[in-house]
Amino acid sequence: MPRLSTSPSLVLLVSAYLRFATGTPSLTDDSQCGCYLTNGTITGYFTEHKFFDFRSLDQYQGVPAPITDIDASANASVTSDYFNSAEWNSSWSLQAWNTSGGARGDATVLRVNSPNNVYIEKNTDPSPASKTYLTLRTERLPDFQTAAEVESRSKTYHFLSVRMLARTVGSAGAVTAMFTYSGGQGADVQEADLEVITGDPQGLVHYTNQPSVTSGGDVIPDATQNATLPDGLGWSDWAVHRFDWTPTQSTWYVDGVRTGNISFQVPRDPAQVILNSWSDGGQWTGNMSLHDAAYLQIQWLEMVYNSTGAEPAQRRSLLSGRAEGCKAVCSVDETSKTGTPVMLWTSGAGRACVRGSGMAGWITVGLVLGMAYMSVG
Ligand SMILES: *[C@@H]1O[C@H](CO)[C@@H](O)[C@H](O)[C@H]1NC(C)=O
Ligand SMILES: *[C@@H]1O[C@H](CO)[C@@H](O)[C@H](O)[C@H]1NC(C)=O
Ligand SMILES: *[C@@H]1O[C@H](CO)[C@@H](O)[C@H](O)[C@H]1NC(C)=O
Ligand SMILES: *[C@@H]1O[C@H](CO)[C@@H](O)[C@H](O)[C@H]1NC(C)=O
Ligand SMILES: *[C@@H]1O[C@H](CO)[C@@H](O)[C@H](O)[C@H]1NC(C)=O
Ligand SMILES: *[C@@H]1O[C@H](CO)[C@@H](O)[C@H](O)[C@H]1NC(C)=O
Ligand SMILES: *[C@@H]1O[C@H](CO)[C@@H](O)[C@H](O)[C@H]1NC(C)=O
Ligand SMILES: *[C@@H]1O[C@H](CO)[C@@H](O)[C@H](O)[C@H]1NC(C)=O
Repeated sequence: MPRLSTSPSLVLLVSAYLRFATGTPSLTDDSQCGCYLTNGTITGYFTEHKFFDFRSLDQYQGVPAPITDIDASANASVTSDYFNSAEWNSSWSLQAWNTSGGARGDATVLRVNSPNNVYIEKNTDPSPASKTYLTLRTERLPDFQTAAEVESRSKTYHFLSVRMLARTVGSAGAVTAMFTYSGGQGADVQEADLEVITGDPQGLVHYTNQPSVTSGGDVIPDATQNATLPDGLGWSDWAVHRFDWTPTQSTWYVDGVRTGNISFQVPRDPAQVILNSWSDGGQWTGNMSLHDAAYLQIQWLEMVYNSTGAEPAQRRSLLSGRAEGCKAVCSVDETSKTGTPVMLWTSGAGRACVRGSGMAGWITVGLVLGMAYMSVG
């Protein structure tokens, strides 16, 4: 007979399991979470969580006029103090490089990234879902294509699930993207892309584990997918675009529906997360007409991830054992409040870090652990 009465851990586990199995898990905060379980076709555990909310930044809103001088454009300062805040600046950096040193073979225009093209904009939608959002702008100017790129400061994301509530609007001739990037050029690059080509039909987006062409210029069909957005959505509609990177597969979702997966050439090494909006007048992006523009607009961006860098160690020491290892399992999927995790369960087992598959899997985990306790109790 299992000795149910003598194990406090078991009681905790069973109560956590019951709450989890029967009710809505309660909101918590990251300091209480040992790890994060994600839903999806490939489920994974991650140890870190970040949430960037651009929905209520009215004090920073304002659309700057494009800067038409090349040097001044690259040299531009940030468009509001938000981009000087620790919240933003500790995780992201605004790019100012240009393609003069190495453009794609068929480029017809110089691309110049400018911090001036990244700004907080008032949401003027009818019945807006937010007060503001983050915008990344690209525009064709007489002498060059002004563009936007935001790169994570960390280059040590090593598997992640990144999601953004975003849309792309504007003229044909540009690309907007969310991707992971790890060093290398040409055949050596490791990169997983979500790309919107603004000359494409509204329902079409592109997913790629780079490189997608051989050094001889031939397309590698297994490396890339043209995907159709679900439910008649277009890329100009607000939707949650999600990319899951695991060791064996890149998987993309839109509003929770799996829209693509590629297990060929999955990026292996720790990587950056990058957002951009650009054109080079070449065949892939198309060639923008003078003074046309396109915009990637983002209400929020969320990541659960593992990292090979110093950052997690720092957080671990902050936690000082409170949510050690995977004993406190959280979710950002099951939450009622975007960006705020919920506690799925806590246990003294220290062995809860196993994969489940969806809700049914989590319940199985609870049962298996419960049985394990009973048999050793
Ligand atoms: C993330 O790290 C945890 C702890 O090291 C590990 O258990 C988990 O499998 C990792 N997740 C992925 C997707 O690699
Ligand atoms: C760029 O900024 C630096 C430092 O503020 C300044 O010295 C330089 O003149 C600027 N260049 C241009 C082209 O604006
Ligand atoms: C932003 O972060 C960089 C790199 O850590 C740092 O050099 C810079 O001073 C920061 N800027 C602000 C305004 O804090
Ligand atoms: C482009 O970048 C290069 C290298 O950083 C720099 O020397 C150059 O001044 C920049 N601007 C133009 C217009 O090429
Ligand atoms: C993918 O979409 C592009 C348009 O962006 C089109 O040119 C190409 O033929 C499509 N590829 C496939 C395999 O359908
Ligand atoms: C994961 O959870 C989110 C939030 O509840 C939901 O919108 C999405 O459909 C789920 N995704 C999958 C693949 O189950
Ligand atoms: C990947 O996509 C293929 C084709 O749509 C599908 O049959 C398969 O179930 C997917 N696998 C996973 C693990 O998502
Ligand atoms: C690209 O667009 C620009 C601006 O409209 C135009 O001057 C140029 O001729 C175009 N180039 C090509 C290759 O179509």
